[in-house]
Amino acid sequence: MPRTFQTVSIFMYVILIVLFIRSLVVNRNVEVIEIEYLLRRPSAKIQRELMIQKRVVSIFSMKKKLKRLPTDYKYILKWTKAFSHYSSLIYKNGQQVFLDNNCTFNNCYLTNNKGILMDVTFFDAILFDVENNWDSHPLERSQYQRFIFVATESAHNFPICSNLFEDYYNLTWTYKLDSDIKNTYLTITDKNGTVVGPKRDMQWIEADENIPEDVKQKIKYKKKAAAWFVSNCNAKSKRRIIADAIKIELLKYNLDIDIYGYCGQMICPRDQFQECLKIIEEEYYFYLSFENSLAEDYVTEKILHALMYYTVPIVYGGANYSRFLPPGSYINAKELQAEEVAKLMNKAITNSNIYETYFRWHNHYSYREAYEGTNVCELCKILNSPPTFTAKVNFRKWWNEATCKK
Ligand SMILES: *[C@@H]1O[C@H](CO)[C@@H](O)[C@H](O)[C@H]1NC(C)=O
Ligand SMILES: *[C@@H]1O[C@H](CO)[C@@H](O)[C@H](O)[C@H]1NC(C)=O
Ligand SMILES: *[C@@H]1O[C@H](CO)[C@@H](O)[C@H](O)[C@H]1NC(C)=O
Ligand SMILES: *[C@@H]1O[C@H](CO)[C@@H](O)[C@H](O)[C@H]1NC(C)=O
Repeated sequence: MPRTFQTVSIFMYVILIVLFIRSLVVNRNVEVIEIEYLLRRPSAKIQRELMIQKRVVSIFSMKKKLKRLPTDYKYILKWTKAFSHYSSLIYKNGQQVFLDNNCTFNNCYLTNNKGILMDVTFFDAILFDVENNWDSHPLERSQYQRFIFVATESAHNFPICSNLFEDYYNLTWTYKLDSDIKNTYLTITDKNGTVVGPKRDMQWIEADENIPEDVKQKIKYKKKAAAWFVSNCNAKSKRRIIADAIKIELLKYNLDIDIYGYCGQMICPRDQFQECLKIIEEEYYFYLSFENSLAEDYVTEKILHALMYYTVPIVYGGANYSRFLPPGSYINAKELQAEEVAKLMNKAITNSNIYETYFRWHNHYSYREAYEGTNVCELCKILNSPPTFTAKVNFRKWWNEATCKK
């Protein structure tokens, strides 16, 4: 019994000595500041007591906490350099992009430099791009900062299967239409220029019978069946197989698909892409808008090449296209057999009245490339709103339900 008591007391002494030495080291800065402060204050006694209390607390929190000075700026750290950022507005560091876009909230600052604020927990937001989500992540996070999941590449090509990412990202910024910040490739406007889509519950206006005269003129002189621009021949979506099957079916009608790029016979130099699209507009009835991977809402600029150049898209992808395209404006090669696709194509090519019906949407809608500036402003706006202290709980299910199977 006395032996145990002795051991315990020695142990306690050792702890006290360690804590005392620690308090001298850890709190030197605090002390200097506070003594200066005390000298200038009359209520020194109370202050001294507070100081002692504070020191006790800091001895027991075994780590010295740094503090970020209060500021109106929202600091946004790009955790890694993703290849899709090179052509993106967020590639540029600083505040300029928020000013250039006349954002309502422009007190945001973008950087790649993890060191500018001393500690990464001081950043108001950290952007993690799906393209290098496998890189190391911060060891610590502050409950006030937002971890933002960024993706322009598809979930099919970049699945995230680790359960570490459940309840991890506070916000999502992707092409998926239910993201916190939507980053779609295209924008749909009505005839008044109001943005109406794409969105999950698109309510399309029923199209008029007649198509505008200028559209009629543009599509009158076409003579070739279909074009496809493709550089990645063996994409994950297996689009090549679908295209080949349609090609074979088209032979029955003496029609063909002209394949431009590495995977075909036709050539369109990259720097002359606009000129090639002009050729599409003048000569081709159909345009293959086949995605390289199949993921929900993953619809890229490929459908714009058809829509903006007066050609009918034949789509193939993982999206529900009713969120992106008016009914009757396209042929869906994902849902129809190659034989049916070829049959519909032939019907339209041989009957101009039928072909014209694919352009009825021109009476009500316009398509254009989405402008990224809107998203950048949205980002700064969200960072100016109070934190919700929540993260996306079923993240993997949301991002890539179909891809991770266990
Ligand atoms: C921002 O405002 C300036 C001045 O009004 C204008 O010239 C510029 O085009 C605007 N920028 C954008 C992206 O709207
Ligand atoms: C466009 O604006 C006009 C006049 O403000 C309005 O009557 C019409 O309903 C609008 N059209 C659409 C498609 O919103
Ligand atoms: C696509 O979306 C439309 C409209 O929301 C819906 O009616 C349809 O069932 C969906 N199709 C599929 C295959 O989920
Ligand atoms: C972000 O999510 C984490 C994990 O759920 C949470 O602790 C933190 O408070 C959230 N941050 C904000 C700013 O909401």
